Amino acid sequence: MNFDGTVALVTGAAHGIGAATARRLHGEGATVVVTDHDADAAAGLARDLGARALGIACDVHDRGSVDAAVDAARAAFGRLDVLVTVAGGSVPTPDPEQVSDEEWARLVDLNLTGTMRCVRAALPLLHESPRPAVVMVSSVNGLAAFGDEPYSAAKAGLSVVAKNYAVRYGPAGIRFNVVAPGTVRTRVWDGQDGALERLAPHYPLGRVGEPEDIAAAIAFLASGDAAWITGVTLPVDGGILAGPLRSMFPER
Ligand SMILES: NC(=O)c1ccc[n+]([C@@H]2O[C@H](COP(=O)([O-])OP(=O)(O)OC[C@H]3O[C@@H](n4cnc5c(N)ncnc54)[C@H](O)[C@@H]3O)[C@@H](O)[C@H]2O)c1
Repeated sequence: MNFDGTVALVTGAAHGIGAATARRLHGEGATVVVTDHDADAAAGLARDLGARALGIACDVHDRGSVDAAVDAARAAFGRLDVLVTVAGGSVPTPDPEQVSDEEWARLVDLNLTGTMRCVRAALPLLHESPRPAVVMVSSVNGLAAFGDEPYSAAKAGLSVVAKNYAVRYGPAGIRFNVVAPGTVRTRVWDGQDGALERLAPHYPLGRVGEPEDIAAAIAFLASGDAAWITGVTLPVDGGILAGPLRSMFPER
């Protein structure tokens, strides 16, 4: 039980990777603040988890909403030890010749500035924790060219923000790390018929990821086992970045 006695706040925790992370941390003993802009689903997951869980509405686009969620966590539990920022995602945008400033800014706001808002709100409580840790969810899109430029730029930004925060807050003992998932089976792939099956053989490990694969890496980076790890971006990607062309040379 790596997280006994700790309080963790997870953003984007109602579905997919965030929900798996909330379940994992809760299963390892954490009290979990399940936050999401889908307030009903956040409350539902918190109810499922039972004791040591609280569902709170939180839209990372909105500073007031983020600050209020952290305040609610403080009021309920009096502390915060772990922050996991999962809220994010992409929507199709026009080609670079046509993309509007607003479309670009919206994706940067969701995936990068929204994360900063959460860190800013959480820092006063993290400073009071004996074992504070922040884990941000990026993407392999932040590490190589897979399209979706505004989303990818925002995710890439997380890695350098985490490095800077790691250096700035290292002396206070607050660790900042990033997990960069490859393709993960969540609802974002619903409606893209056969996409996951088509992608799986390109992964050296022969399958796409499950939300629990990412939750396990997040739990490790948030835990005391990672006490001397800060400022890193860990790809959790079935090897796709290690050998993107591997599937073209099966005989070698
Ligand atoms: N699924 C993948 O293949 C994949 C790959 C790489 C990275 N990621 C990243 O993992 C994270 C989780 O994605 P997922 O696949 O689990 O998708 P998902 O849609 O299942 O989960 C995203 C969660 O964020 C919440 N959310 C969206 N906008 C929000 C906002 N403004 N404020 C608060 N919450 C908000 C959603 O309600 C949802 O619960 C995202 O940051 C995504 O970019 C996903």
